[in-house]
Amino acid sequence: MKKVFAVLGDPVSHSLSPVMHNAAFNALGLECEYLAFRVGKERLGDAIRGAAALGFGGLNLTIPLKEKALEVVDADAMAEKIGAVNTVDFSGGIRGYNTDGLGAMRALAERGVGLRDAEVVLAGAGGAARGIAFHLVKAGARVTIVNRTEDRAASLAAELHVKSAVLSKLPGLLEKAGVLINSTSVGMTPNIEETIATSDMMHPGLTVFDIVYNPVDTKLLREARKAGAAVIDGVKMLVYQGAESFRIWTGKTPPVDIMEAAVRRRLG
Ligand SMILES: NC(=O)c1ccc[n+]([C@@H]2O[C@H](COP(=O)([O-])OP(=O)(O)OC[C@H]3O[C@@H](n4cnc5c(N)ncnc54)[C@H](OP(=O)(O)O)[C@@H]3O)[C@@H](O)[C@H]2O)c1
Repeated sequence: MKKVFAVLGDPVSHSLSPVMHNAAFNALGLECEYLAFRVGKERLGDAIRGAAALGFGGLNLTIPLKEKALEVVDADAMAEKIGAVNTVDFSGGIRGYNTDGLGAMRALAERGVGLRDAEVVLAGAGGAARGIAFHLVKAGARVTIVNRTEDRAASLAAELHVKSAVLSKLPGLLEKAGVLINSTSVGMTPNIEETIATSDMMHPGLTVFDIVYNPVDTKLLREARKAGAAVIDGVKMLVYQGAESFRIWTGKTPPVDIMEAAVRRRLG
């Protein structure tokens, strides 16, 4: 009998996780199937415990369930700190993990971006930014969090003992930065002509990582290329966070190239 995995969220029909994980299961010849279920916050406990009772292999959680899941699962220390769970594993109870930040770290490492003592500007203070910020600090980066709503940046920065600023301070901050990570939703479809920074604010020594993956080639990345900066797109993080979930569930090495190709094909 096939082992079932799923992503829960609301909305969830746009999720790329089924295409990515089914490609991985097929490539490894595993008798598994990955589905998507629309679940609201009020039924999350029932859904997670139901999946456990039905013998599911594991779950991913997306908006708006990641924070609420902490009330239901036994979360590991990093997911507790981040305050959000995106991966649930049923092999020893109902365990919760957050692989978003790990995915971002792997995307940077793959491109040879060293984080120890690096000046990193992290734009955004929402859910994705939290996941990334804790890992950046753990990796020894000198982080400045910038956000449109300054209070949110300040409060996340206070938790991590790092600096913060309002988003409009970005031009000055980029002059001495080595890495810019966009974890805001600026530039995401349908607002594809929006960007948090233009080429005149960037320099060739900068690496610009945009976690927005729809569209893949965002205005921010195009501006970065114009300035001669190195670029990393959001598909990398998406694939690597999924790969970490896959590893947790199966204990197997995920076929990341196949997962990435499946996602890029779907995104066009
Ligand atoms: N590649 C991946 O694997 C991956 C994973 C997770 C998320 N993402 C992408 O990351 C983005 C953020 O996701 P999230 O879950 O963190 O969302 P979220 O919790 O809603 O946070 C949104 C962030 O974007 C900022 N923002 C929104 N509109 C803005 C605007 N017009 N100008 C300036 N700042 C603006 C918000 O600032 P305020 O605080 O001022 O509202 C906040 O910091 C989304 O595009 C999502 O698709 C990608």
